[in-house]
Amino acid sequence: MDTQRIVRTFTEYYEQRGHRRVTGSTLLPPPGDPVLFTTSGMHPLTPYLEGRPHPLGRRLVNVQRCLRTTDLEEVGDRTHLTVFEMLGTWSLGDYEGPTSLEWGYGLLTEGFGVDPRLLCATVFGGDDRTGPDTASLDLWERLGVPVERTVEDNWWDNGPTGPCGPDSEIFLWTGTTPPESTPTRDGRWVEVWNHVTMRYRRLDDGSLMPLPQRNVDTGLGLERLAAVLQGRDSVFDCDVFEPWRRLVPPLWPLDEPSFRLVGDHLRAAVVVLGDGVRPANSGRGYVPRRLVRRLLTVLLRDDPSRTLADLPVELIGHTLDRFGQSAGAGPVREVLLDEERRFGRLLERGRRVLDRPRFRGPLGEDDYRYLHDTHGLPRELVRGLRGQ
Ligand code: SER
Repeated sequence: MDTQRIVRTFTEYYEQRGHRRVTGSTLLPPPGDPVLFTTSGMHPLTPYLEGRPHPLGRRLVNVQRCLRTTDLEEVGDRTHLTVFEMLGTWSLGDYEGPTSLEWGYGLLTEGFGVDPRLLCATVFGGDDRTGPDTASLDLWERLGVPVERTVEDNWWDNGPTGPCGPDSEIFLWTGTTPPESTPTRDGRWVEVWNHVTMRYRRLDDGSLMPLPQRNVDTGLGLERLAAVLQGRDSVFDCDVFEPWRRLVPPLWPLDEPSFRLVGDHLRAAVVVLGDGVRPANSGRGYVPRRLVRRLLTVLLRDDPSRTLADLPVELIGHTLDRFGQSAGAGPVREVLLDEERRFGRLLERGRRVLDRPRFRGPLGEDDYRYLHDTHGLPRELVRGLRGQ
């Protein structure tokens, strides 16, 4: 089942259950939102989770592109991507968590054909402020799905303040032997779907205030589910990466970790630029700049003659199309090439500066600060140039 069919199956299943499809937003959160990028499908819906009536009603479904830089260091493993698509459903003060979980179970097993014996769930076990999520626990027991209780792992929030609540996560077994152990103890359990009972707002002082309505917010990572359903070992092997697998190796023969980093970062940079963000030294614009520099560092390590000018424009176009972006592959390519030239100049300057006797030995915090503030050389780059 390819990703497009997964999206269709998902949305139709929820439309049949009274959900209306909301068009996904760009990666840029609405004005006034404290975060730089949309990190979850619920983001653009925050006002409605907090009580404002949604024009399409109380049951919603959508596909939302998300960007998570907190996972940057994890990129390259089997399950994390910087930019990914999240399939989401919402009950805005309508049905409760167990209904959401039961529908989720139905879709996975009947709609997507997952063997129920390969499922496991986690639920919130309770802490000193909030009781255990017995409703979800009962539901899973009734369905015969093994459950693990946790505390921190089953509390979802979007930062120090804002809507939050206990969640129940659904995991799929990806091992080649029969399922064993539990999600927190065995990485072969892959989390695919999070169902949050979003009924609190955390205030500045850390206290929890009940929201005017009890919501359910669910999010399912599309590429991750696709990889599992397609029997692939990693998100980098699902159908989304087919053109990357076909076109990149003949151009740049990279080992697998480097391929993953370069593919992930290039794809993410294209989507961010496709949403109109321009590289800069701080704020939102620093994200594409950092992505391009990280991927160029890997690309140039083995062969300094490599250049993004060789990147098939088809890969840029394919990515923009997938995310329904109309920015145009040509202009996005120009920004990437501009960044590459800028990075080249920075590297040259960095080499000259680091050649000075003062910087030949071990560097202290003062050196890093000076190199950054006076010469614009970030620590990451300095370490790269010094081969650390
Ligand atoms: N907000 C939850 C998450 O991002 C569910 O959508 O995991």
